[in-house]
Amino acid sequence: MSEEKINVVGINVLRQNGVDVDEVLKLLIYNASVEFAAYYYFTNLRAHCTGLEGEGIKGVIEDARLEDLSHFESCIQRIYELGGILPNDAMEFIRMSGCEFLQLPTPPTNLKEILKKCLLAEQGAIVNWNKMCNLTLGKDPATYDIAKDILKEEIEHESWFMELLYSRPSGHMRRKYSGERPHTHKHSRAISQL
Ligand SMILES: [Fe+2]
Ligand SMILES: [Fe+2]
Repeated sequence: MSEEKINVVGINVLRQNGVDVDEVLKLLIYNASVEFAAYYYFTNLRAHCTGLEGEGIKGVIEDARLEDLSHFESCIQRIYELGGILPNDAMEFIRMSGCEFLQLPTPPTNLKEILKKCLLAEQGAIVNWNKMCNLTLGKDPATYDIAKDILKEEIEHESWFMELLYSRPSGHMRRKYSGERPHTHKHSRAISQL
């Protein structure tokens, strides 16, 4: 690329709006790493939901798992639009997520412990995306649009796991199919619609 500084109006306007672009970018890459790591760990947790009771839980974890993949995908285009890149080192990307707490419990098929981990992951994601909403509200509509759609799905995921753990009604039906991602499908169109 030429040494000449490229004039990126899509970033200039954000600065004029008072956005700290570096802070948004840093949080966006961090949130993407959490979604990516959670997708991986949910894959393993789901596989350990065994027995009669585990069968029903598998389906709920699957819905949340595929939506985490959608959340990761939803971040990518915006990271590059803002002038960022994903870390070259995948290990660094996973490490920055701090998601080691999602490793299998002891024993690995303890359903209640698996559900508690899932709930904790969803609650962390709510905090992450709420932070992004606050950083961008009224100043960066493109990033805000993504953040608020992901946040809505995370709030739904939290309610699913709370219902399973504590019988607190979630007030909604299961997804029509795993990967439906009702709020983020438009941000993750690279994943084909089932
Ligand atoms: Fe997520
Ligand atoms: Fe989630």
